[in-house]
Amino acid sequence: MKKTLSLFLAALMLLLSLSVPSFAFTQEEWDAYLAAEPDADDGIIMQPGADGTQKNFSWYAPAKTQRVRVLVAASPDLAGARAYDGKTVDTYQGDKAAKVTVTDLQPGTTYYYACETDGVKSAVYSFSTPAADRFSALYVTDIHVSETEDPAELSRTALKFNEVLTQAQTKADLSYILSAGDQASSGLRSEYVAMTAGQAEKSLTFALTMGNHDRKGVDYKYFKNLPNESSKFAADYQTGDYWFVQNDVLFLFLDSNSGSGADHRAAIKAAVRANPDARWRVAVMHHDLYSSAIPHRESETRMMRLLWSPLFDEFNIDLALLGHSHYYSVTNVLYDGKGTKAVENGGVITNAPGTVYMVSTSLTRPRGETPAFGDRVAFGLTEDLTRTLYNIVDFTSNAVTVRTYDYGTGALFATYTLEKTADYAPKTINLFRKIMGFISAAIGTVYAWFNNFHVYNDLKEKGYDVDFMDAVNNNFLSEGEPVC
Ligand SMILES: [Fe+2]
Repeated sequence: MKKTLSLFLAALMLLLSLSVPSFAFTQEEWDAYLAAEPDADDGIIMQPGADGTQKNFSWYAPAKTQRVRVLVAASPDLAGARAYDGKTVDTYQGDKAAKVTVTDLQPGTTYYYACETDGVKSAVYSFSTPAADRFSALYVTDIHVSETEDPAELSRTALKFNEVLTQAQTKADLSYILSAGDQASSGLRSEYVAMTAGQAEKSLTFALTMGNHDRKGVDYKYFKNLPNESSKFAADYQTGDYWFVQNDVLFLFLDSNSGSGADHRAAIKAAVRANPDARWRVAVMHHDLYSSAIPHRESETRMMRLLWSPLFDEFNIDLALLGHSHYYSVTNVLYDGKGTKAVENGGVITNAPGTVYMVSTSLTRPRGETPAFGDRVAFGLTEDLTRTLYNIVDFTSNAVTVRTYDYGTGALFATYTLEKTADYAPKTINLFRKIMGFISAAIGTVYAWFNNFHVYNDLKEKGYDVDFMDAVNNNFLSEGEPVC
């Protein structure tokens, strides 16, 4: 009976791997699917490469692994596959995480891939690169897979994410998942492995940023494989800021757990300088800056605005996708924290003089209290707070449209469009604010140095075997030599 079930599940996985999007599972089917996933597929996650021609892969591998590579082909039988070799890093659990970069991808093309560990191949999965003139992404936040390593809770929350993803794929031809942090609840490997277990999850590029809950463990550090990652003044122990480009969009993924403004400023400045022709700048980070939804967090958030507001204004960020509060909200166009142009549900904002800041609901952890939105918020979710919302973001050269859907009904909840014409002229930050921003950034970096002591103590108290230098150095992993 067990053998029959295994054969059935193997056939099911093969079928699913060749047909994306996948269908919705019952809880029992999902449990069986997770139980049947082979070790070779543990934690396979596709992350952005430096631009649309590249993808970064990561997965877990046994301690004695010698060779890791990704095979990429035009057909599901992997005939004529190109092999891309990579390297491994040691994890704190004693095994390894594989890191491979695939290059030379063409736009508008479907590829099939398998991850190979010392000759053992994963199942075959597929992904499609977007066309050169448009693409769509799913923006979600606070997925909060599980809270514990209880298999039932892991499975339940990972299934909810899979269901949202599956429904979102009926609304758009998705290329990316933009996730604004708190992917996990406790920062555990089991949470990330559950989150990435499905077929749809392995067909899309996960662009993640770290939330405060991801920071409770150390596993984010091992599976990340990020392009253009940087931190040089006060490194966080798990991640730096990173950026990538897709078509006309520069994406900036910022670690708002770190107060090191000097690092954030340097990362944004380098990204903007390297991509002067990118027409849109989209920032993704965890902390909610402007909704004021949770009154007791306002004093902390006020401090964060001092740090982030000058940066977003100086570098003309068009759209900031955030999380943390779990309350859906969209601000008016803001500059220096003040409204410069109204945003309406259904509206089109042309040549916005500033940034629109958006927060979405948590996928699994709605809050019960009615939000105390401030007057910067244009619209938000104020009734039936248990609803789950998710967002499709459509990017073209001239417009960015956000479509928010209600997961329960599948109906459109809200939408707005940012549009740029040939007349668009970015605002120039005045010298006083620039200097004040510079000072705030420097103070933030000094704060981050001291905060690393707290991080170190916190990790030790949780039983993680880290040295102090491990906790303050983003590169503490002993990286293996590239194997080619
Ligand atoms: Fe959260």
